[in-house]
Amino acid sequence: MMKVRYIDLFCGVGGFRYAMQGAALKNKIKAECVLSSDIDPDCQRAYAENFGEKPTGDIHNIPPEQIPDHDILLAGFPCQPFSIIGSRKGFEDARGTLFFEIARILEQKRPKMFVLENVKLLAGHNNGKTLARIIEALRELGYFVDKKILNALDFGLPQRRERIFIVGFRLPANFSWPSEIKPMKPLRELLEKNVPKKFYASKYIREKRISKLKPTSEPTIWHENKSGHISAYPYSCALRAGASYNYLLVNGERRLTPREMLRLQGFPDTFKIVCSDNQARKQAGNSLPVPVAEAVINQAIKACSWENVSGYEANVKTRPSIERQMALFEKRKRYAKIAKTKNRRKIQAPVPA
Ligand SMILES: C[S@@+](CC[C@H](N)C(=O)[O-])C[C@H]1O[C@@H](n2cnc3c(N)ncnc32)[C@H](O)[C@@H]1O
Repeated sequence: MMKVRYIDLFCGVGGFRYAMQGAALKNKIKAECVLSSDIDPDCQRAYAENFGEKPTGDIHNIPPEQIPDHDILLAGFPCQPFSIIGSRKGFEDARGTLFFEIARILEQKRPKMFVLENVKLLAGHNNGKTLARIIEALRELGYFVDKKILNALDFGLPQRRERIFIVGFRLPANFSWPSEIKPMKPLRELLEKNVPKKFYASKYIREKRISKLKPTSEPTIWHENKSGHISAYPYSCALRAGASYNYLLVNGERRLTPREMLRLQGFPDTFKIVCSDNQARKQAGNSLPVPVAEAVINQAIKACSWENVSGYEANVKTRPSIERQMALFEKRKRYAKIAKTKNRRKIQAPVPA
């Protein structure tokens, strides 16, 4: 069985790890995690309990020689430092940001591919310039890069959660984004029975909610927007780590339990909840939708050339010039466009030699 090695950066409680495990199983490969990193002690504890290894702490403090060779880099990097990415261009511009730490590792270790995940907001930040710089920096490092916003609702989860995924390959790859839309799992299948009283909103809040909307026979999640407007949906709006207690209420009366939140993110029930309700709520809110990440990794694994997987070329500076890479990338896009028009079908055309 072919073996690939990966690293799990900003690992949180292991959303990407579950996704990688699922994709590896589908592709009949053995995936070994050779490094995980998260600065948060509660995440580290939860990760250790569930995956048997304590993630390394602050990414800034991991020297290159401590980063093992790997084929795949996975990172759901935090969104706070966008504003730091200023007006210059590419890799240099990212210095001082957590994204730069990813770029640093890519430059030093040169894995075959990477998958990054972030909030949808990144796409629109600073009129799209921030994302453009991130992509530019990744291309400058010699990777063939593509990006797409995907919604967890299209991957079987009853949660409207849009996230941007960025994939990159060291060699040109015939990658296409997952396109199959899976029906949403009914909310009722995810909700727990006999939920403890502590999750119920105060009488005042419940009465206020009921005065605005009526419960239905199928469960709904009531969402309160910034201006106080309440809407009920048969799915959850995006879980948020720092949201107010009453932001999402099941049938307008109670908060989601940590287990329900994890299920909404596609975590299996075998995941052990070892932290306080508050911590678990924050961890689930920060996590990624596992089936979406799994579908992306699955496509990326299929697109990647895995010959000589054991021969790491980390320190070999073989990448073509940036001009050559850009030309190849553009050529590939044009080729794909032509193929699409000709066949009138949504297909990813093969990469020209
Ligand atoms: C958006 S969350 C990623 C969650 C993860 N993808 C999951 O599925 O659970 C970002 C994570 O980055 C971690 N983090 C923030 N700064 C960090 C740093 N300097 N070094 C390592 N981890 C950091 C946070 O603790 C948080 O868990």
